[in-house]
Amino acid sequence: MKMGESARIGMPFFSIAYGCRYCAPLKQLVAFTLLHRRPPPFLGTLSAHPLTPSSFCPPNPRLFTGNSLFLRMERFWSRGGIEENKTLVEKLQHYGVIRSRKVAEVMETIDRGLFVPDGNPPYVDSPMQIGYNATISAPHMHATCLELLKENLQPGMHALDVGSGTGYLTACFALMVGPQGRAVGVEHIPELVTSSIENIKKTPAAPLLKEGSLSIHVGDGRLGWPEFAPYDAIHVGAAAPEIPQPLIDQLKPGGRMVIPVGNVFQDLKVVDKKLDGTISVYSETSVRYVPLTSRDAQLRGY
Ligand SMILES: C[S@@+](CC[C@H](N)C(=O)[O-])C[C@H]1O[C@@H](n2cnc3c(N)ncnc32)[C@H](O)[C@@H]1O
Repeated sequence: MKMGESARIGMPFFSIAYGCRYCAPLKQLVAFTLLHRRPPPFLGTLSAHPLTPSSFCPPNPRLFTGNSLFLRMERFWSRGGIEENKTLVEKLQHYGVIRSRKVAEVMETIDRGLFVPDGNPPYVDSPMQIGYNATISAPHMHATCLELLKENLQPGMHALDVGSGTGYLTACFALMVGPQGRAVGVEHIPELVTSSIENIKKTPAAPLLKEGSLSIHVGDGRLGWPEFAPYDAIHVGAAAPEIPQPLIDQLKPGGRMVIPVGNVFQDLKVVDKKLDGTISVYSETSVRYVPLTSRDAQLRGY
């Protein structure tokens, strides 16, 4: 894709580095292609913009043209958010990131605009700062993880979202597994747990929160959440130096975990537990996530 095309799909020319496929310069792209059997499906499409320092947050262009209260009111009256969210989902389908009706439906139903803090453009395919040195992951990463996990998010199944942040993916999981299933978020920043619950209350997943099949807990996600184990699906939203053993233990036979692993160079690993309990692991793609770490280290800036 040429540079100009990024504008047509609502992409900024700059991106925050965390919670996205690694938008590498050409040299690293060559290394990536040599190291990985599967080509990244949309490096050069959705991610075709230069890597910039992780601390750089792209300015919201709307901030310079109007105040955010007005924009929120405008969104409320015009249902503009729902339409913009639908357009984002269509773009992700167009570029082959969303491949199933099921993932498209859940991402259309859960409006990303309700999870991105004011002052950030919610429908741009980029991670956004949410405070506490954390980010909401980019839409293409949410879509990628939902696609990888969708067979393990059938009605009645159990799903764990480690590092649940804004609660966006936990809400998606809850809608997919339904009221007979269980979607559990674990996040170690209490303020993010509180705001994620408030976010989810504004979505169609709110009844599941009320009746208890969706819950979000303050805790160290490296330990999982044993109360509702074993899990058919485990998603980890932050990069671990290695796969935490408690998460492997809490994965059900037949279950799948998706977890970024690494420090500077990270891979999105797909961990399958076979019915006999043996584990197989493959790398889906190179990524860049915030670390799965202690709360103190995160608040200190890692
Ligand atoms: C990239 S953010 C992703 C959040 C979420 N997937 C989203 O899109 O909103 C990673 C999250 O993991 C959390 N985190 C990091 N280490 C953790 C730990 N040990 N236990 C629980 N949460 C952790 C961070 O606070 C942050 O909210």
